[in-house]
Amino acid sequence: MRRIIGIVSGKGGVGKTTITINLAAALMQFSKNVIAVDTDLRMSGLGLQLGMYNFPVTLNDVLKKETNLLEALYIHSSGLRIIPASLCIEDIDTSGLENIFKDPFLENSIVLVDTPPGLGKQMIEILQACNEIILVITPEFPAIADAMKLISAIEKTESRLLGIIVNKYRKGDPDQITIKEIEFACNLPIIGVISEDRHIRKSIFRRVPNVFLNPNSSSSIAFKKIAADLTGLIYNPPKVGFFKKFWRREK
Ligand SMILES: Nc1ncnc2c1ncn2[C@@H]1O[C@H](COP(=O)(O)OP(=O)(O)OP(=O)(O)O)[C@@H](O)[C@H]1O
Ligand SMILES: [Mg+2]
Repeated sequence: MRRIIGIVSGKGGVGKTTITINLAAALMQFSKNVIAVDTDLRMSGLGLQLGMYNFPVTLNDVLKKETNLLEALYIHSSGLRIIPASLCIEDIDTSGLENIFKDPFLENSIVLVDTPPGLGKQMIEILQACNEIILVITPEFPAIADAMKLISAIEKTESRLLGIIVNKYRKGDPDQITIKEIEFACNLPIIGVISEDRHIRKSIFRRVPNVFLNPNSSSSIAFKKIAADLTGLIYNPPKVGFFKKFWRREK
């Protein structure tokens, strides 16, 4: 069995690429066979966030039927497996994506699909190629308004909407939309909340998934909880004592 899980958002910059990478890293830690695929064919960022450039073969070439999926697979120094896209401006036909994801090579894998923002024709084809979808929202009005447009488009496909990951949440900050309000507005379950975490920015600078670099940071723990829930496993986060919590907050 294979799972093709799209990580999507209406608004850009909400953290899809960051979530794809760290959720893949968390699934790897649970010994899952996982591959992160970049379908943002114009502004691809998955490889860049991992410090990987100059790919001789990418998903773009697979879509153009010039090569097969295995040729476009790369392994990051952390062991994370990715299929990148090219940084190019040419128009690429994505109608073949659904068939590409049927490749026997992906059997028994969890494929996390990083997607472009928005709702064009290409995005609809990407949504149709996924069998499950996770919506990423930041706690602000524009992100929620765009998400609501996307939800109605997803509901017209056969993909299953698993729920929402709220990203860049600032605990205790009243100047943001609450988790309950997001849940109510979108009428979908919240499957995870990732805090705005300076470790994430640092990990991108270091080009290593934060789940590997800072496994006990709040965001890494949240990614591992989501990964466990997605795969029906139990994850017991490490206990953080009062002084450590206080120290973290002070830092
Ligand atoms: N939880 C977080 N805490 C702190 N910074 C974050 C968090 N999530 C993402 N970021 C930062 O937000 C920026 C945008 O993230 P990312 O590129 O993953 O978004 P995206 O949705 O993939 O963007 P695009 O729509 O352009 O593809 C990055 O600089 C990343 O470091
Ligand atoms: Mg991105």
